[in-house]
Amino acid sequence: MRKKIVAGNWKMNNDLAQTKALINDLKNSLPNTDAEVKIAPTFTNLHAAVETVGDAAIEVVAQNMHQEASGAYTGEISADMLKSIGVKTVILGHSERRAYFGEDDALLAKKVDAALQNDMDVIFCFGEELADRKADNHFSLVESQLKNALFHLGVEDWKHIVLAYEPVWAIGTGETASPEQAQEMHEFIRKTLADKYDATLADSISILYGGSVKPNNAEEIFSKPDVDGGLIGGASLKAEDFVGIIKAI
Ligand code: 13P
Repeated sequence: MRKKIVAGNWKMNNDLAQTKALINDLKNSLPNTDAEVKIAPTFTNLHAAVETVGDAAIEVVAQNMHQEASGAYTGEISADMLKSIGVKTVILGHSERRAYFGEDDALLAKKVDAALQNDMDVIFCFGEELADRKADNHFSLVESQLKNALFHLGVEDWKHIVLAYEPVWAIGTGETASPEQAQEMHEFIRKTLADKYDATLADSISILYGGSVKPNNAEEIFSKPDVDGGLIGGASLKAEDFVGIIKAI
């Protein structure tokens, strides 16, 4: 059975007090679920988030990480620093990192390697822009993103990878991919994995959908056979909405 996952990417939102308050709200309303629940607060609040979560069934994950172990990289954060505060999973490849901070497939391959060498798990994001979809280029674009950043990995490495398909045109726009569009792409991703590796590996990988998932559309998206959960932006900033999405899985 593949893991079901609902993860909240808080992006650059919530100061320290807001971080603690939102986590406490979540703890108080967390439903019984088979799904793994994760939240990704900003770097400065990760330590407090780990402590506030305590032994609740919520994993605190990082939104990014530098590829080098240490050294003269002003402003950056290493795998060791994350692990030293109890963070064992990192989101890599988010479209906002790609678009605003110049992260490309080659750099992301290095970041993935650094995470795996440090026994961390990775939630790897990718997805096409609207222009790619309009040009009917979305499948080959997604295939190249996977190939360039992940297809050097060995079979064992994939035990530490969760994929998150996030079509850029659906992020923060209120326009979600239809459940059929999500299923079609997730099925393609799984087939691409099966072709490169094998069906056993492909069937074991959780593939999350991200892009304007809300409590009122989550159930239909999550009902699709190749959608194993969601990476949630805006709706993860309100406990009630995030809990509504967790209940939908
Ligand atoms: P929204 O849910 O706000 O569209 O954001 C999705 C996302 O980017 C999660 O990483």
